[in-house]
Amino acid sequence: LARGAGEPDLAGRHVVVSAGGTREPFDPVRFLGNRSSGKQGYALARTAAARGARVTLVAANTGMPDPAGVDVVPVGTAVQLREAVLKAAGDADAVVMAAAVADFRPAAYATGKIKKKDGQEPEPIALVRNPDILAEMAADRARPGQVIVGFAAETDDVVANGRAKLARKGCDLLVVNEVGERKTFGSEENEALVLGADGSETPVPHGPKEALAEIVWDLVAARLD
Ligand code: CTP
Ligand code: CA
Repeated sequence: LARGAGEPDLAGRHVVVSAGGTREPFDPVRFLGNRSSGKQGYALARTAAARGARVTLVAANTGMPDPAGVDVVPVGTAVQLREAVLKAAGDADAVVMAAAVADFRPAAYATGKIKKKDGQEPEPIALVRNPDILAEMAADRARPGQVIVGFAAETDDVVANGRAKLARKGCDLLVVNEVGERKTFGSEENEALVLGADGSETPVPHGPKEALAEIVWDLVAARLD
């Protein structure tokens, strides 16, 4: 997997990266969201561009400037992110789903702002499932040999949870971040573990998001013809 600095090993390739976190609105001023910053996805986009790839970055609510030389498609909701990613993935060699996609969205959208009513408790917000974009893409690949990568944060038995998720999603690689206090990867230095559908395990030492991004592209490049 060794690679010379700045080597354009992704030249001629099209890669799609999703970044940020989706927001699921239930009235014109409110949404259900998450705390994903989008920084890991932007690091993936920048490093892929530096390695010669044509990059489409589907950015959900990141509020960051567009990286140079990258096609950025801004989206809001999970449904919009799905549409943008599937469209861009049509001719992509690899897709990396770094975005935090909301699992659920409000079942209803009020076109006017929801108001309090005197002396009344609030109505619960009913939710419905969002589509699983990663699983859908992995099950129905837009191109033969397309490499599909997911991200997951896990607690407790990180490796077992990660393996189960990798199998469930059907993707080629799953980057598992350990959250919480327990260090189940072994070394205290490990911040992430990349699990391969081929059984491989690549530990990623604690470090900048660029370093993790470079390792992801090393693993992707090794799986492209
Ligand atoms: N993902 C997706 N579509 C969804 C949910 C998640 O494409 N509706 C992708 C994420 O972008 C990520 C991967 O799936 O790359 C794993 O996300 P995660 O939330 O860990 O997976 P879930 O199947 O939603 O599992 P959990 O119940 O643990 O949240
Ligand atoms: Ca989820």
